[in-house]
Amino acid sequence: MKILILGANGFIGSHLSENILAKTDWQIFAMDLTEDKLGACLDHPRFHFTLGDMTQKTEWINEHIQQCDVVLPLVAVATPALYVQDPLRVFELDFEANLAVIRACVQYKTRVIFPSTSEVYGMCPDSEFDEEKSALVTGPINKERWIYSTSKQLMDRVIYAYGKHKELSYSLFRPFNWYGPRLDNVFNPKPGGSRVLTQFIGNILRGESINLVNGGAQQRCFTYVDDGIAALMRIIENKNNAAHNRIFNIGNPTENISIRQLAEKLLEMIGAHYPQYAAQAKAVKLLDVDAGKYYGEGYQDVSLRVPSIAVAKDVLNWQPAVDLDVGLRKTLDYYLG
Ligand code: UGA
Repeated sequence: MKILILGANGFIGSHLSENILAKTDWQIFAMDLTEDKLGACLDHPRFHFTLGDMTQKTEWINEHIQQCDVVLPLVAVATPALYVQDPLRVFELDFEANLAVIRACVQYKTRVIFPSTSEVYGMCPDSEFDEEKSALVTGPINKERWIYSTSKQLMDRVIYAYGKHKELSYSLFRPFNWYGPRLDNVFNPKPGGSRVLTQFIGNILRGESINLVNGGAQQRCFTYVDDGIAALMRIIENKNNAAHNRIFNIGNPTENISIRQLAEKLLEMIGAHYPQYAAQAKAVKLLDVDAGKYYGEGYQDVSLRVPSIAVAKDVLNWQPAVDLDVGLRKTLDYYLG
């Protein structure tokens, strides 16, 4: 199989590339702006990498869409602070630039596996989000945080329509707070500069206080990246065409904790297992900060986000296997080890 991965140097792209090269005989054609997360992949004979901007190298992309069996367009802005600070960039990259890729997949009849997001459910009140039944609930236009959710949602709807009316073969996957090594840069000192786990690790490493937005009672289901990638591999394999034109929540419903608990757990783990940072962790304070002050007035939060994974269990025969404690230790080993 020949696979095209756009954004291969990202968190998901780099783990996926590594996994494919280790476990299959598939060929990867890949593009990204940077290559620092790709390590040994870069020298692998089945990894064909080109540095470049997806909005510029359209000819290269179209040629490869034509030649490959499946395309994973993983390029996106995925950090909430940026949804508020630069909403147009989110729309232009996450929606507009990716739409060109989807249209080329329609034109060349190439299968596409698109990263939707848990964020499409927004403030949905369901206790478990269901791919086919849950309402997608976002806030008013002046809450710019929702531009990511709605850009992704519109893309999901466009892809679904291309599947129904133009024979596009697709699968949509919705990661629920995947985490692990290579998530975001912990050395980015800007508040909100990265997703919550790497933000907190960076705070601890710099000896700063941890900011709990609106007190940190909001909950997330944290999903270890190896589990997420295992699901993605099954979607790509597409045994018996089972993943054809389906949507999959890929998350760990049992590892549902509040952001405050996450901060406390990290401090506890660092105190117990990383003696070089123990004193620093002990001195870290947990501060309750107002969301509007931390992110800006365009922010609104999700208080509960639990996936139903019945479809993934049923269709892919997949379920998460890595406990939060185990996944956090692996992540801390990577960042602090
Ligand atoms: C994330 C991002 O939108 C995407 O990466 C992704 O599509 C999706 O969720 C996902 O992975 O499922 P969110 O979980 O809100 O959204 O993003 P984080 O930045 O990881 O924040 C999680 C929670 O921690 C939020 O409630 C946020 O307010 C809080 N937080 C964040 C703090 O309390 N303190 C901080 O310093 C940073």
